[in-house]
Amino acid sequence: MNCGNSVFTVFSAVLFAAGISVSIAADSITTSKAAVESHYKLGPRTADGIGKFFFGREIAHFMTHHGAPWLERPEREQEERPDLVIKALALKEGDRVADIGCGTGYFSWRMAQAVGNKGTVYGVEIQKEMLALLAQQMQKRGITNVKGVLGGTADPKLPVLVDLVIMVDVYHEFDQPFEMMQAVCKQLKPGGRVVFVEYRGEDPEVPIKLLHKMTEAQVRKEMTSQPLEHVATIKTLPRQHIIIFKKKPDPARN
Ligand SMILES: C[S@@+](CC[C@H](N)C(=O)[O-])C[C@H]1O[C@@H](n2cnc3c(N)ncnc32)[C@H](O)[C@@H]1O
Repeated sequence: MNCGNSVFTVFSAVLFAAGISVSIAADSITTSKAAVESHYKLGPRTADGIGKFFFGREIAHFMTHHGAPWLERPEREQEERPDLVIKALALKEGDRVADIGCGTGYFSWRMAQAVGNKGTVYGVEIQKEMLALLAQQMQKRGITNVKGVLGGTADPKLPVLVDLVIMVDVYHEFDQPFEMMQAVCKQLKPGGRVVFVEYRGEDPEVPIKLLHKMTEAQVRKEMTSQPLEHVATIKTLPRQHIIIFKKKPDPARN
């Protein structure tokens, strides 16, 4: 796989004319018509998308496990500077982190080192094959504080509350972003952070397909639907931005 040149499996989006449900084949997701109408719009499907739109953005196909070697490519260290990502997160010893859409765990093990033995990284995936690769990678590196979690497309199914949720090159693939982010916010500790690392959609020089990039403005617009406040956007990476939000206090609890 390669988001720049495509080795994505092309899925067929089947829209039922009766308007009862929309099912996106290959992932057997069925969304009720009411839910689709309240948060989403259906529209023309482009080659890299699923024909479902959220805040005007067409959602991208998710990357299949066949693309795993691309996630582990050696040049990624220079292209994405994972060291700078980890620094920007300012993780503390003992933190609980959810790496949603962790893939092979390219960021999971780095975060696991940062949170130390008292901390845990939950590597969440919707593909069992990716979880198997995650386990392999962690074993190879002798990392014991990364736990794989098989999530759903509307709920990461985290077993505990977490200090930080990170999604690296993932959020634009969520086919139910509203529901997914609602579930994410519920699993955040008070004041917990949500971090999006996305290829910069504003920059035509970033050699990634359009639907696999996101502008800062689009991420911030979509997060107005969630109990999150924008904290910072870090622009130190060669191709991506790091967009950080914090959970808003729940007025019902004050
Ligand atoms: C482009 S890969 C990025 C992997 C990893 N974050 C990295 O940077 O190496 C995107 C991953 O997100 C996963 N994904 C997509 N939608 C998801 C969802 N709703 N919940 C969990 N994982 C999801 C896909 O299965 C895929 O492995």
